Amino acid sequence: MKDGKEENGRRRRGQDGSDPKKPRGKFVGLDIGYGHTKIVTQDGERMMFPSAVALVAPTAVQQFGAPVAEDEVVIDRIRCIVGSRAIGKPNRCTDLEDLWWIFPSFKAIVTYASTWIPPQSTVITGLPLHHYIAPDARDIVHDLVKTILKAKRVLVTPQGVGAFYSDLSQLHATAKVAIVDIGTWTTELIAMAGNDFIGTLSTGVVSGVHDIYRTVAQELSAKMDRTVDPYEVERSNRGDGEIRAQGRAYAQSWIDERVAQLAKDRAALILAKMVDLWGDHAPDFESVFFCGGGAQLLFPYLKGYRDGAILMKDAQYANAVGFLKMGELLYGQDTPPVTDEPAVSRNETGEPQPLAV
Ligand SMILES: Nc1ncnc2c1ncn2[C@@H]1O[C@H](COP(=O)(O)OP(=O)(O)OP(=O)(O)O)[C@@H](O)[C@H]1O
Ligand SMILES: [Mg+2]
Repeated sequence: MKDGKEENGRRRRGQDGSDPKKPRGKFVGLDIGYGHTKIVTQDGERMMFPSAVALVAPTAVQQFGAPVAEDEVVIDRIRCIVGSRAIGKPNRCTDLEDLWWIFPSFKAIVTYASTWIPPQSTVITGLPLHHYIAPDARDIVHDLVKTILKAKRVLVTPQGVGAFYSDLSQLHATAKVAIVDIGTWTTELIAMAGNDFIGTLSTGVVSGVHDIYRTVAQELSAKMDRTVDPYEVERSNRGDGEIRAQGRAYAQSWIDERVAQLAKDRAALILAKMVDLWGDHAPDFESVFFCGGGAQLLFPYLKGYRDGAILMKDAQYANAVGFLKMGELLYGQDTPPVTDEPAVSRNETGEPQPLAV
């Protein structure tokens, strides 16, 4: 992982769970992905950890008052390990669920994220577009994040829109751009005209890169006679560790070839969705930006879609960085003026309104 040294970073917490040295209240971009959670704060701190949660079964000895490791949180009286250490654990919550943001594992991730997010912060976070369009979904995530993080304000936006704001040089009053955010579980196809979100040319597809790693993990489990976690496959494909059993590493070339083969098929499916959605409109876009960790894997097979296809810098962090900038634009005191209102409008009391979709 890019931020390996920070991953599951440890920080001493105060008695109330907060870090006494942390300033209170920051702008924070919080991208809680099905695969990885990304946090970006206004003072430049970046953090990424796998959105992996393993439950620790209660033991015969009462745990009350017992020390809890710093990558553990307690949800509904059950200890949960969050992040890297959860990978490969027997009670890991492995079934990715479309509605996972109502599950205890989501609460565990937000609780763990509080390690880096001081109380009274302004937190901008996202939901996949196909859930964002449901007002109740927005409210549930808003209330949960606000309560757990003791945030001053929380704004929930569609995920891919965050990426648009990650590079403010793209802000232009009229230019149309398209964003393809390829994640673990979802791919968002987003169209913007200046600061306006174009609902009719945007959609969320429940199809990311997870299947690729899960398929290879299942095949390796059978070959190696042990359970291989999809995260292990993802890491090995990024050159970050071998997959081993009985003292031997499985041939990396086989893993890489199999991942590439499945990636090609997945890219073809995403390409078909782009053609379906944008059809004749494709030439109208000034650029087509690709982001999300999945874009790093699939961009080679998708860049032929059109001239002007761009893999965003820091693709996996694009939404979190953009969320932070949206927060600064909407609520910041000292940010430079912009020519147009950002995509999120305000009501008469000055409170931001969700995007019209
Ligand atoms: N350099 C890379 N090469 C190959 N795959 C990568 C690379 N970086 C990240 N990935 C994969 O891309 C996946 C998607 O990353 P990302 O963090 O954008 O997903 P997510 O936001 O967690 O998912 P979702 O948007 O569906 O909620 C990661 O889980 C990882 O498997
Ligand atoms: Mg994502």
